[in-house]
Amino acid sequence: MSSPTKQYTALLPAAGIGSRMQASVPKQYLCLGSKTILQTTLDTFLAHPLIKQVVLVLHPDDCWYQTLSVSQAHKVLCVVGGEQRADSVLAGLAKLAADEWVLVHDAARPCISHQDITKLIAQVEAAQQGAILAYPVKDTMKRGNAQQQIVNTVPREQLWHALTPQMFQAGSLRDNISSALSQGQTVTDEASAMEWAGYSVALVKGRSDNIKVTNPEDLALAQWYLSQQTDEEIT
Ligand code: C5P
Repeated sequence: MSSPTKQYTALLPAAGIGSRMQASVPKQYLCLGSKTILQTTLDTFLAHPLIKQVVLVLHPDDCWYQTLSVSQAHKVLCVVGGEQRADSVLAGLAKLAADEWVLVHDAARPCISHQDITKLIAQVEAAQQGAILAYPVKDTMKRGNAQQQIVNTVPREQLWHALTPQMFQAGSLRDNISSALSQGQTVTDEASAMEWAGYSVALVKGRSDNIKVTNPEDLALAQWYLSQQTDEEIT
């Protein structure tokens, strides 16, 4: 696969309130060492040579972003998000040309590496097909019922954790998320809307440290993963 040279837009939904973190500020404003989660994620994208701009989706009541040093970056375009993650992604997509390829990445995944961003872009360029970073499931998987009893064991051989970034053409992604939502589908990631519309989406094996900070214990883990990344992986 040849090395990509074209530049792309990254869309970062950061308009959640992160209620599962039980913190006084939305989780993207919690600190990992000296920087917030959001600043860490933004810095990685802004420093990537194949990223030309970042569309950052913020909560309508966000009063924290302006306090970050990264808020002065000229490559960041801020837009106001919506109630669900998919609404926030749609708000960001509205700023992009229909034929533009975009990488949608959860702001709450601060350990994303430059290597994985490049790997995803290279795969999409080579195949001209939408793709997502993903990681194969390692644990034995159980389906449970409402009483927390096991219903059955789900074969894990072809199961993957869907990570981000997820890369698609902006117009097609916008149309398919809108259609899926209007027909009552649950859209928890970009690929689910594209799958629902009948598109074939490629899985690109990413790193398992690309975690989404969701629960309080994830914060220390993300900080440790970041401390283990070498300069080569981050920059
Ligand atoms: O809540 P969850 O962890 O799934 O959110 C994933 C990402 O989507 C986070 O970066 C969060 O800020 C963002 N989000 C958003 N708009 C919402 C809900 C979540 O931009 N309404």
